[in-house]
Parts: sequence; C-alpha cells; structure tokens
Amino acid sequence: MSKPEKFFDENGLRLDGRRVDEIRPMKIEVGVLSRADGSCYLEWGNNKVLAGVFGPRELHPRRMQRPDTAIVRYRYNMAAFSVEDRIRPGPNRRSTEISKVSREAFEPVVLTHLYPSAVIDVFAEVLQADAGTRTAAINAAAIALADAGIPMKGLVSACAVGKVDGKLVLDLGKDEDNYGDADLPVAMTQDGDVTLIQMDGNFTQDEFKEAMELVKVGCKQILEIQREALKGKFSQSETEEIENEAVIEAPAPEVEKAENEKVVETEDDEMVEVETEDDETVEVETEDDETVEVETEDDETVEVETEDDETVEVETEDDETVEVETYDEEVVETEIIETEEDNENVGNVVMEDDENDKEPDENIDEDIGKGETNE
Ligand code: CDP
Repeated sequence: MSKPEKFFDENGLRLDGRRVDEIRPMKIEVGVLSRADGSCYLEWGNNKVLAGVFGPRELHPRRMQRPDTAIVRYRYNMAAFSVEDRIRPGPNRRSTEISKVSREAFEPVVLTHLYPSAVIDVFAEVLQADAGTRTAAINAAAIALADAGIPMKGLVSACAVGKVDGKLVLDLGKDEDNYGDADLPVAMTQDGDVTLIQMDGNFTQDEFKEAMELVKVGCKQILEIQREALKGKFSQSETEEIENEAVIEAPAPEVEKAENEKVVETEDDEMVEVETEDDETVEVETEDDETVEVETEDDETVEVETEDDETVEVETEDDETVEVETYDEEVVETEIIETEEDNENVGNVVMEDDENDKEPDENIDEDIGKGETNE
C-alpha cells in the first residue's frame, strides 16, 4: 500500500467519504461467547474485534492475590491473520504496551474493591486490523465487562484523533494512520475523564486542544452506540423474562371446588386438580390450564386421555400415591396432599356421592379406607 496522492476531495471529504469529524460505522454484538462471563464482538470500519471477560474469579497463584481488591488483567492480541503481513503469534513489545495501557484505561471505573483476592480477566482478540485496534478493543472490552455484570462507575469509550495534511480528523482510517502526521488515541469515561491518552507525531498546543474536543465528540457517539447495544441485549432479556414470568405466574383459573375434590401434587410440585363430573368421567386440570379427561375403567385403574390424544393411566398404588403413566412410559408419581373424608375414592379420583352404590375394589378399600368409602 502506498501513500495516497491526496487525503481529501474537493468537498473536504476523506478517502472513505467521511467528514473530518465522522467516525467509521460501528456494529456491536453483546454476549457472543457462551463460555465467557461477558463478551462482545465489535466491527468498526474494517476492524473486527472479539472481547471476552472471565471473572471475577479466584486468582492463582495465591501469592499474586490482593487481599483488599480484585486485579484486572487485560490481554490485547492480534491474530496472526489480522493484518496484511502475517504477525508472529504471541506477545510482542507493541501488544504488551497496548495491554498495559488498556488495563489502566479501566482502572478508574471497575469497582475492584468489591472482589478482594479475585481477578477479572479481559481478553481482546483482534481478528481483522484496519487502524484503531486498541481503541476498538477497549470499546469491545467495556461492553464485555458490562455483559459480565462487573460493577463499574460507567462505560469506557475510546477513539483516536489525528492530523492528516495539516487537518485534524476523527477516527483515523488505515492510510490516515500510516501516512498521517499524528495519531492520538484516547479513552474516556462517560463523564469525560480521560483514562488513556497516547500520542504519535506532533500537535501544536492549539491543535491538541482542538483534537481533544474532537475526540470527546467521537467518544460520546461511541458511548451512545455502546449503550444502545447493551440496551438491546438487556431489554430483550427483560422482555423474555417478563414473558416467562407471565407464564410461570399466570394464576390457575378459579375452579369452583366440588365437595369431593382432591388436590394431588406431583413430585416436581406441579399441582393437578381432580374433580368428578359424573359417575364415569372426571376432569383433571393442571395449573397451566391443560385439561385432561379421566374415565374410570374399573375400580383400580382409570384411563386419562389428554386433549391432544395423549393417553395416560392413573393407577392407585396406596392411599397416598397414584402413578400417572403415559403410554410412552413416562412415569409421574403423584401424592395426595388433601382429601375429603366423606367421598369415595377411585385412585386419585373422588367419585360423587351417587357413585357410592358402586362396589369398590377390595384393594382400593384397603388402601383408601373402606369405612370412609362405603358407608
Ligand atoms: O491499531 P492501532 O491504531 O491501535 O495501533 P497502531 O500500532 O497505530 O497500528 C495501526 C494499524 O497498523 C493497525 O490497526 C494495523 O492495521 C496495522 N498494523 C499492522 O499491519 N501490523 C502490525 N504489526 C501492527 C499494526
């Protein structure tokens, strides 16, 4: 790649058509790594960065622990394939320096004192580099930290400002970075406190002041994008939660309880109400409104047919327990937790009084109590 002939067109627009105060398009995905506590994939122009956060977790070896605070470790790494010329894998002087300053960029915001002796690991992997990777990594890491639920005073946003052909430009592109006159990467908190500043090249004092104003605008824009990304993730999961809660907490319909009603409780706490409707048929209603028809076959066994044609057998085992077996051999053990003394029992089904003429099975009498059922 060679130096472009000019960096601005006749309208003052940059090589990629941006204005001098315009950042490259940024796309953020939150929570992309299932094994990380928090993660983020970020694209910024042609940069592609993945950040993963692990922790807070106990720091080993123990002699490295700080009894009053957690430590934050930050590893910036460029994939070998992320640049035009392959990078030799492993840490180098540049990545060690970037890791150090990036860790320090988060120091003022992460509430490390809440996790004594712990470590919070931040990994930033640059998959594709196109100028501004340290700032891209910081933006992604801030999201990953938030995604991991690490308490912070606020987010950290980062952007570079530079000088090209004597003009200040926000968020340098690759050619601007390579062939420009100056590069000033900055990270700041949402309150505008600078947590990272590095400089390559020269600015006059006035240029420097102006550059700082410009980069502040850039960081604010990025902060908005970060916030939106987090809102997108967490408002979505809130909605899901509310929907789930609605399912879980939806009250069972008020059923007028007949005298002969029994309530049985399945082992996994699912409540099933059993109510006789007539001599032959009872309705079983689960708390989630599902209704099954129960038909007596004989004194010992009843067949339960769900509305969607699934058939289950309800069989008395003893006074307290009935077994509900679906035809696909799924077995549910239910336990009677409430009984009405004056009713005849057939399994977990309580028959109405006019059913008392029926001769119940001997076993049932024994199990359920003859005296009560056959007065
Ligand atoms: O990426 P950042 O601007 O934070 O750091 P830099 O050291 O100023 O590097 C500028 C750009 O040069 C990187 O984004 C890469 O695109 C490229 N670069 C490279 O091609 N090979 C390297 N070993 C280092 C950087």
